[in-house]
Amino acid sequence: MHNVILSRCRELAQYTEEPGFTTRTFLSPPMHGVHAAVGAWMRQAGMEVSIDAVGNIRGLYSGVNANAKKLIIGSHLDTVPRAGAYDGILGVLMGIALVGALQGRRMRYAIEVIGFSEEEGIRYGVPFIGSRALAGTLDAALIEKITPAIREFGLDATKLKDAQASGNILGYVEFHIEQGPVLESMNQPLGVVVAIKGQSRFEIEFLGQANHAGTTPMDMRSDALAAAAEVIVFVSRFTQGMGGLTCTVGKIHVEPNASNVIPGLARISVDIRHDEDAMRETFQQLVQDEAAEIAARRSVKVSCTKLLEQPTVFMDEEFTARMAVAAPHAVHMTSGAGHDAMILAPHMPAAMLFLRSPGGLSHHPAEHVLPEDAAAAFEAGRRFLEILERLEVSHG
Ligand code: GLV
Ligand code: MN
Ligand code: MN
Repeated sequence: MHNVILSRCRELAQYTEEPGFTTRTFLSPPMHGVHAAVGAWMRQAGMEVSIDAVGNIRGLYSGVNANAKKLIIGSHLDTVPRAGAYDGILGVLMGIALVGALQGRRMRYAIEVIGFSEEEGIRYGVPFIGSRALAGTLDAALIEKITPAIREFGLDATKLKDAQASGNILGYVEFHIEQGPVLESMNQPLGVVVAIKGQSRFEIEFLGQANHAGTTPMDMRSDALAAAAEVIVFVSRFTQGMGGLTCTVGKIHVEPNASNVIPGLARISVDIRHDEDAMRETFQQLVQDEAAEIAARRSVKVSCTKLLEQPTVFMDEEFTARMAVAAPHAVHMTSGAGHDAMILAPHMPAAMLFLRSPGGLSHHPAEHVLPEDAAAAFEAGRRFLEILERLEVSHG
């Protein structure tokens, strides 16, 4: 079964906006193909399939009776630009395989497998759109931003409220690649996630004066890109040796972007993460103060636009303990990557299981999963479902 999961991941990697790479952002045209393939596999496994208004695909496998509690197994369908084949999609296909392995046997709880339409934050700079629809935490400004994409994809944004999770939910479980080097360094295939680091994402825009590159003396310029470059160097230097603090400038926009014109505008993305919220918030303020000081010294204007403030989230202790029993040798660890589980954890018991990432590589085409690790995760998933079944029996 684990080989089917991995080959399906690779098959879905072919649905892309950019030939030769896997790039699939929120409700982009290739998502139609992913919905069709995932939907067919869900039906084959005995699920009823629907697509909600935000573009999450949902496969429902009913329990022994109509008012049974519901276990949600999920992860995301979207990717970063030039992604690997496993980030997100592996968790969805693992859920389908686990339901398929029940071979029609009904549990005392229903299972809903969800492929979230957006987690990466690429199309709108704001991540977790799919799981936020489920949690009911999409704000009005974001809904307005995403409505044209929803309409263009053929969905009805007025029905977003119906995407919200309802009924008696047993919990949420997500299988995901680690996307880092920790498990490999410990020679371990699996990790149980205890907490997911908080993240702040914002943009800094510098507004200078575009002008001639040959005639404007160096001390008479308002160079927006030079100011942005100072911020990039500052965050990179400052975070060296700062333990779990990470800060990444991964995106830059320059205008007019010509070799003989002084840049009049530069906009950079900033992504800050730490498992202590106070550290993350304080460093965020430090970066903004530094940007203001640099801008003043270089005679450019500066403004910051906040895109995400996501605190650190702990997984549910009891639910995680069940996963720990199902995967008894798994390492207990914190996740530096964000996951849909962090959006759902405040609303329902949540647990996560990580699979080792060979070479610690992710968000890259060479991202990889070892077949034996997929097999170990699948077995842990089967045991997890059986543990829940026994608990439902003993709770009556
Ligand atoms: C999601 O992949 C993230 O950026 O953590
Ligand atoms: Mn992911
Ligand atoms: Mn990712």
